[in-house]
Amino acid sequence: MSPVNDLPATPDTDDGALLSVRGIDVGYRTGRKSHVIAAHEVSFDLHPGQSMALVGESGCGKTTLGLGLLRLLPRTGVIPRGQILFRRKDGVRVDVRTLEKEELRRFRWNEAAMVFQGAMNAFNPVLRVQDHFLDTFRAHENGRRRSRKEILEHSAELLEMVRLDPARVLTAFPHELSGGMRQRSLIALALALKPQLLILDEPTTALDLLTQRSIVERLTELREQLSFSMLFITHDLGLAAELADRVGTMYAGRLIETGTTRDIFHRARHPYTSALIDSVLPVVGDLRVPTPLPGGPPGLHTLPEGCPFAPRCAHALTDCATTRPALDVLTPRDRGLSHTAACLRSTDSELHAEGAPR
Ligand SMILES: Nc1ncnc2c1ncn2[C@@H]1O[C@H](COP(=O)(O)OP(=O)(O)OP(=O)(O)O)[C@@H](O)[C@H]1O
Ligand SMILES: [Mg+2]
Repeated sequence: MSPVNDLPATPDTDDGALLSVRGIDVGYRTGRKSHVIAAHEVSFDLHPGQSMALVGESGCGKTTLGLGLLRLLPRTGVIPRGQILFRRKDGVRVDVRTLEKEELRRFRWNEAAMVFQGAMNAFNPVLRVQDHFLDTFRAHENGRRRSRKEILEHSAELLEMVRLDPARVLTAFPHELSGGMRQRSLIALALALKPQLLILDEPTTALDLLTQRSIVERLTELREQLSFSMLFITHDLGLAAELADRVGTMYAGRLIETGTTRDIFHRARHPYTSALIDSVLPVVGDLRVPTPLPGGPPGLHTLPEGCPFAPRCAHALTDCATTRPALDVLTPRDRGLSHTAACLRSTDSELHAEGAPR
């Protein structure tokens, strides 16, 4: 096995980002030589300690993108182009897209970990929680082999970190725990090897409101304590507003707006982001009646030629049907915090004037 420092590195030309995603396409093979793309030309940066939410309707490619970033796609998954540059703990920048199998194994859990969508059922039902921790630590031991006792002590500390009672949880089978306890255990497991990046896919869906609340609070505290970066995928805009420093909106496989949480919730520049915010009970500001967004996103095989949102957009111009807008920088900021939007009308003062129709 080659030492960690031997992993392929890319020239160091970044500005300190932990993760720099550069023009990646992520999709699924449909035949021997064909595939569909579910996430197109996605680019964004995530800096150390930042927390970014990915929002968008069902089927927009959020999970595909998250899985692609850690190369956790199913066997049919493909990443035909782009770069996923990641700065490892040793300071070396690698392209996750081109890591070899063994390098990838060492990258996952140690550098970046993911809590999957529907993860509450991710535990193997015939193994006790402690066996999951033992397996994870053993699979990633580089060098000294720790005793079972040492690993279990460490696992107990991790469970305490997510406010679970190790005496009760470690020896339990997954079905003996509530959904919230399983989700916390999975978060503890994902943090076991102190990853720099934690990807959470719908971390609180299917949990009752009080349990959601306590998981959100715990994640916020853990981030302060351990200072990992977080990318979390959610339908819940309230969660995004609370947990994220910045938000990326996805539509039809494309990142169509990114900005700080304030940019997105107070001055969204893409009509889809505005419509998404208006379609739920207010996340910020005064109470108003939600306005449903009619229709649904296009399928992977039926992407319109121009802006993918144009057929549903109340503000579309004739050009929107034929011109696919680039993600323009509206407010440049460093540390990846620029406000960007892919809309022909993103700087249209008529549309974005104070009190203008949304
Ligand atoms: N294993 C797969 N094989 C082929 N297509 C897939 C596969 N998984 C997802 N897709 C397709 O990729 C597109 C994006 O799906 P994805 O699950 O990434 O969306 P999502 O934004 O996470 O949706 P949700 O909010 O419902 O979780 C969808 O059209 C979906 O049908
Ligand atoms: Mg999903």
